[in-house]
Amino acid sequence: MKHAAIVGIGAYLPERRLTNADLERMVDTTDEWIVTRTGIRERRIAADHETTSSLGAEAARAALGDAGLGPADIDLIVLGTSSPDHIFPSTAALVQARLGCTCPAVDVMAACTSFIYALQHATSSIESGRAKRVLVIGAEVFSRLIDWTDRGTCVLFGDGAGALVLEASDEAGVLGIELGADGTGADVLTVKAGGSAFPATVERIEAREHLVQMAGSEVFKFAVRVIPEAVRAALASSDLSVADARWFIPHQANQRILDTMADRLGVPHDRVFSNIANLGNTSAASIPLAMNDLYTTGNLRPGDVLALVGFGAGLTWGAAVVRWTKGAR
Ligand code: UT7
Repeated sequence: MKHAAIVGIGAYLPERRLTNADLERMVDTTDEWIVTRTGIRERRIAADHETTSSLGAEAARAALGDAGLGPADIDLIVLGTSSPDHIFPSTAALVQARLGCTCPAVDVMAACTSFIYALQHATSSIESGRAKRVLVIGAEVFSRLIDWTDRGTCVLFGDGAGALVLEASDEAGVLGIELGADGTGADVLTVKAGGSAFPATVERIEAREHLVQMAGSEVFKFAVRVIPEAVRAALASSDLSVADARWFIPHQANQRILDTMADRLGVPHDRVFSNIANLGNTSAASIPLAMNDLYTTGNLRPGDVLALVGFGAGLTWGAAVVRWTKGAR
C-alpha cells in the first residue's frame, strides 16, 4: 500500500489587520479582556473582493510552488471550510477553476474540524490508490458570518487559508487519524439560517440567524475534554506516544484551551504551537496556517512527528499524526 506524504505547503493571509483597539471602538470590550480570556491581539480580515475560494486558491498556488508542481499534476482537491462562497457550487470547484486544474474537487464541511476531516479524505484516496497527488486546503472568510455587534464572538475570528500537497509515497507521512462527531451538541455552535431547515427570510436575517451563534463556555468545556483524548488515540493508532511528538498543532481557538491541552497531556507549553495572538481563530484554516508558520520559520525537521488536532461545531473533533518527510526550509 502507498502512504500519503506531504510534499508541499503554502498559506495566504489577507493584508488587513483588525486589532483589539479597533474592536474596542466597535463593541463593549477591552484589549485586556480579549488578551486574558483568549490570547488574541489581532486578526486578518479579507478585502471586499476576496472570498474563501480566492484565499484557498492563493494558498494552494503557494503549496504547488513549494512542491514544484503545476495544476495538471493534481488529481483531487479536498477543501475544508465552514464559510463556503455559496451553498453550491462547492468552493473546491471554484478553487479548481481558479488554479486551472481539471481534477475532481469536493468540499468537506465539519466546521473548525474541517481540515482534519479533509486530510482523512485525501489520505484515504491516496492509500486506496484512487489518487496520486491531492491538494488539501483549509480556507475561511469567517468574518462574513460574524455578528459584528456580538462581543462574545466578533473578537475571536479571522480570515486566512493554508494548503498541503499530499503525494503517494513508500514513506509514511500521514500516520494515524482519529475522527469524532456528536450531533446531540449541534445547538452550541451554529449558523442556523440560510440552509434548507431555515431558509433565508427577511425576519431570520433581521434576527441575525444567518450569523454565528455560540455558547462559548459549552464549547470550551467540550474542547478541553476531547482534545487530549483525540490526540492520545491518534498517537496510539500510529504506535506512538505523547513523548514522541515534537510539535502539538491544535486548532487555534483560545490560548487558554491550548494551555489546558498542554497541561492535560503533560507536555511543556512551548511544544503546543500557537499563533493565535496574530491570527485569532481562523477555523478550518488554523491548522495548515500553523504548520506553514512552523515550516517557514525553520522549525520543522525531517522525521519530526506532528500531532494535529481540531474541534468545533457539530460537534466534531479529530486528530492526525504526521511525520514530516519534507526537508527543513
Ligand atoms: O473554533 C470553534 C470553537 N470555538 C471555541 O473553541 C470557543 C471556545 N470558548 C471560548 O473561547 C470562551 O468561552 C470565550 C472566549 C468565547 C468566552 O470566554 P469565557 O471565559 O467562557 O467567558 P463567558 O462567555 O463565560 O463570559 C464571561 C463574561 C460575561 O459577562 P457576565 O455575564 O459575567 O457579566 C460576558 O458577557 O464576559 C463577558 N464577555 C465579554 N466582556 C468583554 C463576553 N465577551 C466579552 C468581550 N469583552 N469580548
